[in-house]
Amino acid sequence: MITHIEACRQFQLDTAHASYVLTVVDEGYLAHVYWGKKLPVADMTDLLRIDENPFVPSKNERDRSSFFDTTPLEYPCAGIGDYREAAFDFVDAHGCRAGDLRYVSHRIYDGKPTLEGLPHTFATDAEPAETLEILLQDQPTGMTVLLSYTIFPQLDAVIRSAQVRNDGPAAYMLNRALSCSVDLENECSEMITLYGSWARERQLDRLPIRHGKQRVDSLRGESSHQYSPFFALVAPQTTEQSGSAYGFTLIYSGNFFAQAEMTQHGVLRAQIGINPDDFAWELQPGATFQTPEAVLVYSEEGLGGMSRCFHQLFHKHLIRSVWKDRSRPVLINNWEATYFNFDLEKLKGIADCAAKLGIELFVLDDGWFGHRDSDNCSLGDWSPDERKLPGGLKPLTDHITGLGMKFGLWFEPEMVSPDSDLYRAHPDWAIQIPGRPMTQCRGQYVLDFSRAEVRDAIWQQMKQLLDTVPISYIKWDMNRQLTEVGSAALPAHRQKELWHRYVLGVYALQEKLVTNYPDLLLENCSGGGARFDAGMLYYSPQIWSSDDTDAKERLRIQYGTSLFLPPSAMGAHVSVCPNHATGRNTPFETRGYVAMNGTFGYELDVTQLSAEDAAQIPDQIRRYHAWGHLVRNGLQYRLGNPFAPSACAAQMQDGWDAWIYVAEDRSEALFTFIQMTADPNLRSRRIRLAGLDPERHYTYAWNANTITRSGAYLMQCGIRIQNLWGDMKGCQIHLTAVQ
Ligand code: DGJ
Repeated sequence: MITHIEACRQFQLDTAHASYVLTVVDEGYLAHVYWGKKLPVADMTDLLRIDENPFVPSKNERDRSSFFDTTPLEYPCAGIGDYREAAFDFVDAHGCRAGDLRYVSHRIYDGKPTLEGLPHTFATDAEPAETLEILLQDQPTGMTVLLSYTIFPQLDAVIRSAQVRNDGPAAYMLNRALSCSVDLENECSEMITLYGSWARERQLDRLPIRHGKQRVDSLRGESSHQYSPFFALVAPQTTEQSGSAYGFTLIYSGNFFAQAEMTQHGVLRAQIGINPDDFAWELQPGATFQTPEAVLVYSEEGLGGMSRCFHQLFHKHLIRSVWKDRSRPVLINNWEATYFNFDLEKLKGIADCAAKLGIELFVLDDGWFGHRDSDNCSLGDWSPDERKLPGGLKPLTDHITGLGMKFGLWFEPEMVSPDSDLYRAHPDWAIQIPGRPMTQCRGQYVLDFSRAEVRDAIWQQMKQLLDTVPISYIKWDMNRQLTEVGSAALPAHRQKELWHRYVLGVYALQEKLVTNYPDLLLENCSGGGARFDAGMLYYSPQIWSSDDTDAKERLRIQYGTSLFLPPSAMGAHVSVCPNHATGRNTPFETRGYVAMNGTFGYELDVTQLSAEDAAQIPDQIRRYHAWGHLVRNGLQYRLGNPFAPSACAAQMQDGWDAWIYVAEDRSEALFTFIQMTADPNLRSRRIRLAGLDPERHYTYAWNANTITRSGAYLMQCGIRIQNLWGDMKGCQIHLTAVQ
């Protein structure tokens, strides 16, 4: 519920357990008052301390700059005295930089605005939304900013965005427009961020916040392997289950900026948005610029509560695909099985064997088009390689559909190889700076997706295939970062628009794909998980998490990802051992448990599997279909931490990981335990469960016995895990509430 207290010009946004409060202070400045555990509606403006030195400018003109530099401003500008990081910055007709945003009007309404061309959250009939819009204006130039705040009452999240509009007489250059800025004064003194690299995405950093600025960002044109568009602010005592956690993410897939700045008076300025570095956007009179949405989550139930709020919000209010609530077909992908080295017979052999074991979808990965025997050529020429696939895709798809399987295909639509017909015909379609050598990455260039004619040329090729063979699934890959960012279609002073225009172009083509083929199951990918962000979820219900399919590494990658993105979106496959990324051996059974903590599938040459491993596949598929709804729609409780040094000696926290998915009505649950390293002379472990109904009893099977325990017992005393001998051994237990 959103309440406006007119007397103190205060707005209070209340969700189930949280309140977010802001106010208009004297002279029209919009200030942040409070965000945290829910409070009764009341005048809270006292928290701003504007009855203390330096007071508001009208009471103390001589210290005007101190007012700006100390007041918790809701959308701070650069240039007039707030020396902390700004949210908004532009160059006026004099070539100067200053902004002074003041309140003009506000509006509170039921519903959620849509964002043209950008992924965005939406309301549903079952869970409606309420929105507060506040219009601010910089009087000397006429620039306005419309701040938008949406809440879904059952979720402790605030969705923020800003729309900048030039209502002045001249053109201005926008240099920065973050999606949100919030000045917090609370117990949070630690920051959690996610870092990584190719094959090692989303690793955990939790560090004390020092005075000054600490940031993660991307200037690679994608959200990146290296840092994720996410951070959390937590108290030192915040754990997985308890304590305050403030989470921030951006519904965006390009350059981002995420920063916490501890200022001189101990106030923490937290911000997220499009990276202002190398960003500029020309605004002619009357033109607007819309920022992506930021999602701000508050939880008093620790990191677990924060993550569950993100998961539910994205599942219910961001992912649109018809597949989001459906049991997805179990796929087999040929990449780790064959790489580029395959022909029709080889693929048919894999499909035959996979079909017999119950696998439902065959995905043909890279190497099927042009003359692509390696990653040196053919991107942009999306017609089948007749040497490998005589007669094109049809003989293969006929064979696969004849087996009762569905067919999926890999594309990398945004890329072009120097050795391709497309590049030879249109060299200017690649992103480049005239007169400068073009940097190759994986031997390829990036197409200028800001241009409609470039997108259309790719679309025509994809459509031709989609309309001639039955393609149920597409893997949309993106295997390099942007360099020499220049577009032949933009004038010199607007080149910095290209980063964002490129992302808008990617969104435009994905939108076209999913609206023209609404039943298509789209999986995004970027050299593994370099574009695993909330923006992509608007188009695809699943994203390939990492090129590292090693079960042990995946525990960390999937833990990190689950901090802010739903497990139902995490592409996760069982592959062969020794694992291609690490050389590590893990039991086939455990690889299945770990891949079931995501969208389950296989990525191996099933014809080469041992009989013992292959025999496990039908039962893995059965379990995925029987219990996968809990991963998709249930609540996830992380019970272990694959990064943790001993957090709880009694549970021997070192060396194991565990998680449980609990149905929303708590009638059933799926628990998984992985013993990462075996400890000698250790008795059975007791792992305390979470999320169950303490009042109900649950039954489960263990070693052919049926055990019944109360939810309270399982959560307080734990479930007993016995007799796991060896590293990376695990178990999966389904619990059902007794009627
Ligand atoms: C990177 C992806 O992450 C892999 O799964 C695979 O599709 C390769 N690209 C193909 O080039």
